[in-house]
Amino acid sequence: MDYQHMRAFEVRNAHFDRLVNTPGLKWLGQNTNHATPHPAVMEAVQRCLRDEEFHVYAPPVGLEALRAGIVDDLGLPDHAALVCDGAVAGLAHVCKSLLGPGDELITTDPTWNWPMIFAKSVGATVKQIPIYGEEYGYRLAPARLAEAIGPKTKIVYLVDPNNPLGSACTAEEIDAIVAAIRPSNAALIHDCTYRHFAYDHTLAATRFPERTLTVYSFSKWLGLAGLRVGAIVASPDFAERLTAAQPNILGSNILSQRAAVAGLGIKGEWFPGVLANQRANQKLIKGAVDRLPGVEMPVFPSNGNFVVIECGAAGVRPEALTACYQERGIMIRQGSYHTPNFGDRFVKVSTTVPSAWVEEFVELLPEMLEIARGRNDALKLF
Ligand SMILES: Cc1ncc(COP(=O)(O)O)c(C=O)c1O
Repeated sequence: MDYQHMRAFEVRNAHFDRLVNTPGLKWLGQNTNHATPHPAVMEAVQRCLRDEEFHVYAPPVGLEALRAGIVDDLGLPDHAALVCDGAVAGLAHVCKSLLGPGDELITTDPTWNWPMIFAKSVGATVKQIPIYGEEYGYRLAPARLAEAIGPKTKIVYLVDPNNPLGSACTAEEIDAIVAAIRPSNAALIHDCTYRHFAYDHTLAATRFPERTLTVYSFSKWLGLAGLRVGAIVASPDFAERLTAAQPNILGSNILSQRAAVAGLGIKGEWFPGVLANQRANQKLIKGAVDRLPGVEMPVFPSNGNFVVIECGAAGVRPEALTACYQERGIMIRQGSYHTPNFGDRFVKVSTTVPSAWVEEFVELLPEMLEIARGRNDALKLF
């Protein structure tokens, strides 16, 4: 590759292209789910292909069976699901529809970055409330949110469970967060992409249906990241506003939607095993981290399908550790992907993967820390 003459987007793309074309790469870096799919999901995909269903456009806001399945899974019967090409496409549409120059989006630090980028792209400003550290308990205190909200605030973007931290809001915190937003003009985007992995989770939409947008993804719990299917769930009135100029007016991928419908059908029998495996993987990592000086897990257990490992006290930069693992065919994520302010403290490791991958990660950890220590090479990571 001629990296010198490539644009930034091409360098980034080439990086991910290399990853997806690396045979046997162990994906512990993107919170993807590598569990063996249920046969019913495979059958739905195969049937869709066999029947050549892909010649048609799917309905604009999704197959009715899928829309009904999503609101049923969330337990939000009076809501409307707008199916989109992965949660991120819905987030882009919502941010660009609700924000304009002079408006403000408030979120935490760390958060999931893309909605901040979408907000800035339409001239809005972004305010981040730091939550990383003992002093904050790795969570958002509703009083700090109340203090931050002002007349320009149009969106509060809450990732709950938080990616990358794995902390989740309690019911009392959700009550107080809603109380903080209600007197303002803001909408709450409650990004529940990791809800299925949480020990306990409260939907803000049950308290504040008129201005909450609930973000739903099939990438994580069902393992369909490459198929791109998710949803924005809203009150019917709010949903109507969002369909005025929806980018996926010709529908989302029909094959993905068939897989998602089948997935919802087998969730009760299939997902508990996936959850148990990822929680056991978290414990494996915790055991190894506890045996090593200088590394620790600030949030355990995590309510997501990932954990954060701090390595600063071991004299190791997250980028160096990530690069060392990459050389061994294991992808983990450096903290700076999520936050420039706290990213030098941690790496993130995904746990919805085969236990053998986690065992290898754990076995290599002492050696990787040793090699990474003092290593300062500027490897380009994304
Ligand atoms: C908080 C959060 N929201 C949304 C997404 C994207 O979800 P999807 O794959 O459905 O676009 C991710 C992906 O990592 C995420 O972490």
